[in-house]
Amino acid sequence: MARTFTTVTVLGSGVLGSQIAMQAAWHGKNVIAYDPFPAALEKLPDRWEFIRQGYARDLDDYSDEAFQAAVERITPTSDLKEAVGDTDLIIEAVPENLDLKRKTWQEVGELVDSRTLLATNTSSLLPSDFADASGSPERFLAIHYANNVWLRNTAEIMGTEATDPEAVQDAIRYAEETGMVPVHVHKETPGYILNSLLIPWLFAGAELYVNGVGTPEEIDKAWRIATGSRVAPFTAYDTVGFNVASHIAINSEDPAQIKFGNLLKEAIEQGFSGKADRKGFYLYNEKGEPTEPNPEWVEKMKDF
Ligand SMILES: NC(=O)c1ccc[n+]([C@@H]2O[C@H](COP(=O)([O-])OP(=O)(O)OC[C@H]3O[C@@H](n4cnc5c(N)ncnc54)[C@H](O)[C@@H]3O)[C@@H](O)[C@H]2O)c1
Repeated sequence: MARTFTTVTVLGSGVLGSQIAMQAAWHGKNVIAYDPFPAALEKLPDRWEFIRQGYARDLDDYSDEAFQAAVERITPTSDLKEAVGDTDLIIEAVPENLDLKRKTWQEVGELVDSRTLLATNTSSLLPSDFADASGSPERFLAIHYANNVWLRNTAEIMGTEATDPEAVQDAIRYAEETGMVPVHVHKETPGYILNSLLIPWLFAGAELYVNGVGTPEEIDKAWRIATGSRVAPFTAYDTVGFNVASHIAINSEDPAQIKFGNLLKEAIEQGFSGKADRKGFYLYNEKGEPTEPNPEWVEKMKDF
């Protein structure tokens, strides 16, 4: 029988987890936002405010009352059993690290109800790398969101060879119920469709920078003006956030990308990780618009 989706649990309350949680709540779902770190949950009101500004700007049917009602449908918790024991769907958005994903899904597998659909939002791993850790690979798949979920509203839905086709159809229906445009990725492939295109492009920008060919601003300018695109590599890095970007760069085994990933990690240690902090390769105003390039990145080029 087709699943119904009343309660949704999101594991990880970071950049994407918070957006996935809000998108579900905005569309009437009861949402449990799980994060083992209380500090991450304490950051949620700031994340709601950041997302609220996006909804207000981008959605025709936005109202403060509806947004507040959505916030109230979200229950934050650090208790995994409470989060996963009685829910229709789990969407995992923990950091992009295979050991952590496996450990998380193993813990979830021991607590979860047999009706629950299991989904990962991994960007660069394959769901089949860790579906078995859940103990239920037949109901395990990927629902992959893009940053700014409410606006860039594709959901790439990708099963593994072990996924029951009915689970895929259920995930497609869930995506439609929550304002997403589902894109069924028929064959498991690293990076789905979006990142198969996006990551080589971002890596090319990073390589130009760490080889001292251009500043982030110059590289972006060359791309933006000549292609007519609003988005350029370093504005994209700011949107993705340095946490995810540094993991992908360092895991690539490419020396130029590792060098770039380590620079992103240094930035995180200094307290900034992209647009969500209003500071990345650019500085941002309260509306999330870039105001000027961050001069620190030009300064770092003296060491290249
Ligand atoms: N940022 C993007 O643009 C983007 C886009 C699509 C997919 N993704 C994917 O989404 C996932 C999360 O990325 P993000 O950008 O939200 O990362 P993030 O670092 O912003 O957030 C991760 C959150 O997970 C929490 N966490 C750490 N260990 C945990 C655990 N064991 N259980 C539950 N939560 C835990 C952290 O406290 C943090 O709040 C990654 O797999 C990433 O590849 C990210």
